Amino acid sequence: MKTRSLILCALACAATLATAGCKNPPGKSGTQQETPRPEQVVDFPTLYAENCASCHGVNGQNGAAISLANPVYIAAAGVSNIQHITAVGVPHTAMPAFAKSSGGMLTDQQIAIIAQGIAATWGKPAALAGATLPSYVSTTTGEPTRGKQAFTNLCARCHGADATGGKAENGAITGSLIDPAYLALISDQGLRSIVISGQPEQGMPDWRHHLTGSAARPMTEQEIADVVSWLTSHRIATPGQPYQQHQ
Ligand code: HEC
Ligand code: HEC
Repeated sequence: MKTRSLILCALACAATLATAGCKNPPGKSGTQQETPRPEQVVDFPTLYAENCASCHGVNGQNGAAISLANPVYIAAAGVSNIQHITAVGVPHTAMPAFAKSSGGMLTDQQIAIIAQGIAATWGKPAALAGATLPSYVSTTTGEPTRGKQAFTNLCARCHGADATGGKAENGAITGSLIDPAYLALISDQGLRSIVISGQPEQGMPDWRHHLTGSAARPMTEQEIADVVSWLTSHRIATPGQPYQQHQ
C-alpha cells in the first residue's frame, strides 16, 4: 500500500473510531458484510464504544466528561434530554453534536438507540422509585452569596473551603471548581447535572448525600441553583487567553 493511501486509510479509521474499514486496501473490495456502513451500526454497545467512550468512559464511568452510567443522572435527565443533547451537543464545550441534521455523523435512529441503550443498560428506575428528583433544568434563579454559604456547608469537606481543591473521604483528590480554565469547558447545566447526580464511582455523592450524619437531608432546589451560580460567578471573559486580542 502506498504511503498516501495508508494515511487516508488511517484518517478514515480515525473518523469512525473503528478498526473496521482498513481491512481491504483501496480498490480491492472485500466481503461487503464484513464492514457495515457507519449508518448500519445499530447496536448500543458498538455505537457507544465508537462515539462516546473516549470522553464518557469505556463503561460510562471515569471518563473526562460526566458519567452516563449513573442511575441518578439517567433518572434526573430522562431519555428525551439525553437524546436531544446527543443530537445537538452542548455549545462551547467538548460535547459534539452527533445528529446529521446538526453536522454530526449519526442518524436519528442511531441517536435514539444510544439514548435508550444508556437508560436500559445503566438506568435503575426502581432504585429511585421513592425519591423526589430535582428538576433537570433549574426552575429557580441562583444567588452567588447564598451559594458560597451552601458550598461551605455541602461541598467544602471534599472540595476545600474555597473550592480550589481538597480531598474526599475516600482519599480522592479533587480539582479546583473555580479555575476559569475549568469553568470555560463546562456549561451551567453541566455543573448542575454533576451536583444533582454526583460521580459515585469517584466518591462524589448525589444531591441526597452531600450532608451526612444528623444533618443528613437532600439538597433543595434553591441550594443547587445557588451553588451553581456561585461557581459560575468565577467565570471570566477570556479564560486561558495567552495573547492580547488585536482588533
Ligand atoms: C464526599 C465528597 C464530595 C462532596 C461532599 C462533594 N463532592 Fe464534588 N466531587 C468529589 C469527587 C471525589 C469528585 C471527582 C474528583 C474531581 O473531579 O475533582 C468530585 C467532582 C465534582 C465535580 C466535577 C469536577 C470535574 O473535574 O469535572 C463537580 C462540578 C463537583 N464535584 C461539584 C461539587 C459541589 C458543587 C458539591 C456540593 C454541592 C460537591 N461537589 C460535593 C467529591 C465530593
Ligand atoms: C469529545 C468528548 C465527548 C464525546 C465524544 C461525547 N461527549 Fe457527551 N459530553 C462531553 C462533555 C465535555 C459534556 C459536558 C458538557 C457541558 O458542560 O454541559 C458532555 C455532556 C453530555 C451529556 C449531557 C450531560 C448533562 O449535563 O445532562 C450527554 C447526555 C452526553 N454528553 C452524551 C453523550 C453521548 C451519548 C455521546 C456519544 C454519542 C457523547 N456524549 C460523546 C464530551 C463528550
